[in-house]
Amino acid sequence: MSFPRIAALKTAKEFEDHLRSLSISLSFDETLEIGPRSPLGQPLRRSNSVIGNRFCILPMEGWDGTTDGRPSDLTRRRWQHFGLSGAKLIWGGEAVAVRSDGRANPNQLLLDDSTVKDIASLRELLVQTHLDQFGNVDDLLVGLQLTHSGRFARPHGKQLEPRVVYRHPLLDPRFGVRDDAAIFTDDEIDRLIDDFVNAARLARDAGFAFIDVKHCHGYLGHEFLSAVDRPGRYGGSLENRTRYLRSIIAGIRAEAPCLEIGVRVSIYDFLPFQPGPEGVGIPAPISGEYRYAFGGDGTGLGVDLTEPREFLELLEQLGIELVCSTAGSPYYNPHMMRPAAFPPSDGYLPPEDPLLGVARQIDAASRIKAMFPKMIIVGSGYSYLQEWLPHVGQRVIRENKADFIGLGRMVLAHPELPADVLAGRPVVRKRLCRTFSDCTTAPRNGMVSGCYPLDPFYKARPEREAVNAIKSKWKDDHER
Ligand SMILES: Cc1cc2nc3c(=O)[nH]c(=O)nc-3n(C[C@H](O)[C@H](O)[C@H](O)COP(=O)(O)O)c2cc1C
Ligand code: SF4
Repeated sequence: MSFPRIAALKTAKEFEDHLRSLSISLSFDETLEIGPRSPLGQPLRRSNSVIGNRFCILPMEGWDGTTDGRPSDLTRRRWQHFGLSGAKLIWGGEAVAVRSDGRANPNQLLLDDSTVKDIASLRELLVQTHLDQFGNVDDLLVGLQLTHSGRFARPHGKQLEPRVVYRHPLLDPRFGVRDDAAIFTDDEIDRLIDDFVNAARLARDAGFAFIDVKHCHGYLGHEFLSAVDRPGRYGGSLENRTRYLRSIIAGIRAEAPCLEIGVRVSIYDFLPFQPGPEGVGIPAPISGEYRYAFGGDGTGLGVDLTEPREFLELLEQLGIELVCSTAGSPYYNPHMMRPAAFPPSDGYLPPEDPLLGVARQIDAASRIKAMFPKMIIVGSGYSYLQEWLPHVGQRVIRENKADFIGLGRMVLAHPELPADVLAGRPVVRKRLCRTFSDCTTAPRNGMVSGCYPLDPFYKARPEREAVNAIKSKWKDDHER
């Protein structure tokens, strides 16, 4: 299956015709506005603060911290780029583990008493870089994403050391869960909640304006939301499935009342996918209803926002204003979360035109924005739009279908894109993320993440050859 490359859709008419041919209703503005008329340049005014424009940097880890959880020069470079981007909302920087066994890899950042100063200095570097470049940080909001990697924990190396909320019939065999010993007991969850609260207090000490209690991408927080079969206090009813989050929020409010709290949530999920004939992704076979997709419609392949709506109602009642919408998981259905033309080395060829994945995320975010107009909704999954990203983003903001355009991979490839768009400079086409997925293939093979094809700094790194070799082998295996 192959799809037209975005770079080949050179005019608005070609892009529009292509969207129409896929029956995708995705609106965009042909002309980008600059200055006071620019929707993307509009500040977002809050009761006691302002966020200076409508670009948000999404969290992206680099598998490049030290083994004791501190940032390296590569981590610092990435955070500097986030500051240079011109975006005024920094959603989390990257996933930071609240304790060692929750790390997704031995090089993930860890927030505890011994690392707090180093993590504080990362934030300071980002803020200083932004100040030097743009002259003002009063309207810059920087948060930190806190996590436990749960099913995908690999704290010591390649070996998975999964901890889960419940036994999953399809994911357990894939991710090394062999018996109930991997399941967190209620008492262990109580202790994990204390670890989150402690890490949040440290994040406040480190100067972050908010923390994100990560609830996305199949990691532990997200897993709670689909723990429909789990007995006890943390599973079954939605009330029980949100007890973990509610307890973390209550703990933070008691310990660090001035710290704002946000939630990044996979607002819908699908079945796990796997390579089918010729490497194209197909859903894992099931019989009957699929009950483990939060925000799914029971088929495993459709969206139903009934429960996410209840979840967001709860967040609103709890006074949570910041919500970042994403979807699915990079481990079991990456085409939903990071729509891409080229799969990562452990992935599958796209089962649909990646634009469908982009449009699905934009639509879900716009539906929750309509349901909860007072919440601040950040959308994700825009990078695949490439040349058309600013055009779609401007329209989304203009029509109030989200409050922020979240940028992930695009900023790894082309950090200055938001600043260029806001200043009316043409985008640098040779730096646009073309969704080659090297930034995922590298870490899946034990190397640091980065934009190896487009960022001159990563292009020159020795890992590039190894990444290319892995890609060539994948291509050979799938073209045979
Ligand atoms: C290399 C890489 C690392 C990522 N790390 C995180 C992370 O730490 N936390 C998180 O919530 N999402 C993470 N993501 C997902 C992104 O935040 C984003 O949702 C995704 O890339 C889709 O947005 P995009 O189309 O702009 O790339 C990561 C994505 C990439 C490519
Ligand atoms: S490696 Fe670069 S071009 Fe490829 S997906 Fe990542 S950011 Fe985009």
